[in-house]
Amino acid sequence: MRMLPSLRLGLLVASLALVASALAVGVQDPPRGPFGLSRITTHDGARASLDQFFVSSDCALCHPRQGAELAGSMHSVAHEDPLYRAFAELAREEAGPEMYAYCSGCHSPAGVVAGAIPDVPEAALPAEAKAGVTCDVCHQIEALNGPAGPWGEPGNASFVLHPGRTKFGPLDTIARNPAHTAERREFFESSEFCASCHTVIHPTNGLRIEHTYDEWKRSVYAEKGIQCQDCHMASVEDAIQVAATLQPLERRGRSATKGDERAISPHFFVGGNVDAERLGGDRKHAEMAEARLKSAATLALEVAPRAAGAELAFELAFEVVVHNVGAGHALPTSLTELREMWLHVRVLAADGRVLLESGALDATGELTAGAARFGAITLDARGEKTFKPWEAVSFGWKRVVPPKGSTRDAYRCALPADAGDATIEARLLYRIAPPHVVREVLGERAFEPEVVEMATVRAAVPAR
Ligand code: HEC
Ligand code: HEC
Ligand code: HEC
Ligand code: HEC
Ligand code: HEC
Repeated sequence: MRMLPSLRLGLLVASLALVASALAVGVQDPPRGPFGLSRITTHDGARASLDQFFVSSDCALCHPRQGAELAGSMHSVAHEDPLYRAFAELAREEAGPEMYAYCSGCHSPAGVVAGAIPDVPEAALPAEAKAGVTCDVCHQIEALNGPAGPWGEPGNASFVLHPGRTKFGPLDTIARNPAHTAERREFFESSEFCASCHTVIHPTNGLRIEHTYDEWKRSVYAEKGIQCQDCHMASVEDAIQVAATLQPLERRGRSATKGDERAISPHFFVGGNVDAERLGGDRKHAEMAEARLKSAATLALEVAPRAAGAELAFELAFEVVVHNVGAGHALPTSLTELREMWLHVRVLAADGRVLLESGALDATGELTAGAARFGAITLDARGEKTFKPWEAVSFGWKRVVPPKGSTRDAYRCALPADAGDATIEARLLYRIAPPHVVREVLGERAFEPEVVEMATVRAAVPAR
């Protein structure tokens, strides 16, 4: 049927209006601060000077404990971490300097509020701008601007920096010292503080890319008042106890060389980055991350009872249960589109023959198809898979183990009559990224991400 031009135009206008209203509903513009797409701001909204941000080693003169704990952490290399740098430079190249400044609001806050990022070329950037998440970044945060406005939630660097002689922190009163004065801010003891950076919302399409805080907020940990600090500003051993008992622990020590003994908070900030050392951090933090991953989950095997008298092609059926026992959020959390967690499951005959294998790595180190996986796939505007956060508009797939929750994966295999005493073996494995992504962004400087065995379980299947 031939359409009248005016009618066709009318339909076009109507469909455009539909698209526009769909965009208005689906796409919310996250709030911004005076420094571009990030919400980061200063007390007067004006640029600060880099002279007002000391590098952490300056503060360590009187705070050697915090200095030693922070050095080598991912916070200390948040700007220089080569994997981040490669992603960030790609963001700058593909999405422009505004997007790069957005990333830097969390990874290099001092550089952004001083106006050095994104204008000054990387090679000429002063040390203070490249020092990542330093003492002076966190302790010059005067207020959180998260829980205000229509968004009513922290994220995208929702904090107010007030650089100067006053350091903000959790202590009521502090010993006199020539370096600085101090003011107490209660938010230092709460998860909302961490959430200002640990909630990453796409700056133009509103996709909640990283939302560790939301996962925590809905968990039993939040219900019992266990904050991020109780596990991440603690030794691995203490964090394990906190997760098991749902009770915070107190550690005592000195806040400064000249201070009295009081309750302290270790500044390790360890998560699951077992590649910390090759990313600019140190061995100690990498080892702590490994220990933390090994404490996060347990595995169980549930083998279906055999049918009595089943003599012929016997089928073995079992389920692998993953319990998230130690993480105060989902497993994995945060950059789920990059992190990789999966089950490697095998059934072995008495003579070592492999009767079933799922979740093996191929010759190039990639995970083979059909594995039980945990993580996410983000999609771009064309609906294609993308690992670049600036391109992501939606999640195509996401599967994680909720805090104190569990998942199940079912397996079946034929058990031949000559299998003898067989064994089922399941391993839960983790790495920070699949090798092809590391190769794609780092090129010649690529490395093979370390695979950590988080948990293992075995069960014997006696001969028929
Ligand atoms: C709201 C704060 C925030 C913003 C904005 C942000 N990030 Fe991050 N980024 C984080 C946090 C927090 C982590 C650590 C998460 C973890 O370790 O699981 C992280 C981790 C990363 C990592 C992983 C590094 C590693 O060694 O494993 C990459 C890569 C990264 N970010 C890239 C980017 C890029 C590119 C942008 C901008 C498009 C960006 N980030 C914007 C907070 C932010
Ligand atoms: C000359 C020594 C000295 C230097 C240098 C120094 N501090 Fe302090 N700082 C102290 C002392 C002493 C205390 C009080 C400790 C106590 O009372 O237990 C303190 C306390 C603090 C507190 C706790 C404040 C509160 O209210 O919770 C923070 C935070 C802090 N310092 C951060 C920093 C930062 C950041 C730097 C580097 C820019 C720095 N300090 C450099 C001596 C120093
Ligand atoms: C100013 C922003 C900012 C604040 C505030 C912040 N973080 Fe982070 N955090 C980051 C960035 C950026 C990274 C990732 C650095 C990288 O991997 O390159 C990170 C990484 C981490 C990691 C991952 C380390 C690993 O081994 O995988 C943990 C754990 C962590 N932060 C905990 C916390 C906790 C707990 C708080 C609150 C007490 C907090 N952070 C506050 C920006 C921040
Ligand atoms: C990622 C943000 C972050 C960084 C980086 C950071 N701190 Fe803290 N700091 C905190 C938080 C949060 C607390 C309060 C923890 C609590 O009470 O639960 C704290 C507590 C403190 C305290 C009082 C308690 C204690 O453990 O002594 C001092 C002093 C302090 N920090 C100094 C420093 C110094 C010095 C550095 C650099 C070497 C530093 N901080 C780096 C977030 C940070
Ligand atoms: C009950 C203890 C506990 C609490 C509470 C907790 N975490 Fe964790 N967190 C862990 C453990 C264990 C891991 C290591 C396993 C993993 O990587 O998820 C971890 C890992 C992480 C990682 C690294 C994830 C990755 O794979 O790159 C980040 C980032 C993180 N936590 C941030 C937070 C933030 C932010 C909060 C508060 C909203 C928080 N955590 C609360 C125990 C805890």
